[in-house]
Amino acid sequence: MNNLINLILTRRSVRSFNETPISEKDLELIVSAGLEAPSGMGRRTWKFTVVTNSTQIQKLAAAVGEVLSRENYTFYKPTALIIPSNLKESRWGQEDNACALQNIFLASHALGIGSVWINQLKDICDHEKIRPILNSFEIPEDHTLSGIAALGYPKEKIEPVKRNSPTHFVR
Ligand SMILES: Cc1cc2nc3c(=O)[nH]c(=O)nc-3n(C[C@H](O)[C@H](O)[C@H](O)COP(=O)(O)O)c2cc1C
Repeated sequence: MNNLINLILTRRSVRSFNETPISEKDLELIVSAGLEAPSGMGRRTWKFTVVTNSTQIQKLAAAVGEVLSRENYTFYKPTALIIPSNLKESRWGQEDNACALQNIFLASHALGIGSVWINQLKDICDHEKIRPILNSFEIPEDHTLSGIAALGYPKEKIEPVKRNSPTHFVR
């Protein structure tokens, strides 16, 4: 089977990571895949912030847990976060970032790195307990967040799952 199709068909969300760090070279390659995603009218009003410092990752997770009243919230303890942000007034910013995230997930999978979409920052990125942390990551104040990517080497082998197929051909 074609390699790319095989990667698409075998990617699964990973929610359990070991502590092996991801090299900066691989993270740069993964982000470059995000940067090749389509964007509405080619505006590319996004920014990709990569966080590999586990104290900083867990500081953000703890703040999210506090705001959402979720005890021991950790983002599944990833070794890296890729945080796509986009201009608040961008008409297609969320769609653009979602396309970039899928490229990021597939590129990660191609390198044997597990990933999962984290949605919890979507509605709280301007919260007084969250925005100062985003500022410290140099995420622009006029940017908003939707999904972010938690990445790490999977603790366990990812098994395929059987899918329903809501597909209909009109011939
Ligand atoms: C818009 C969106 C939001 C998601 N939010 C989360 C999330 O906050 N936490 C999480 O563990 N998974 C999240 N996921 C991952 C889905 O749960 C996952 O893709 C789905 O269950 C299908 O499993 P698969 O990715 O293994 O194919 C999200 C996925 C999408 C597309």
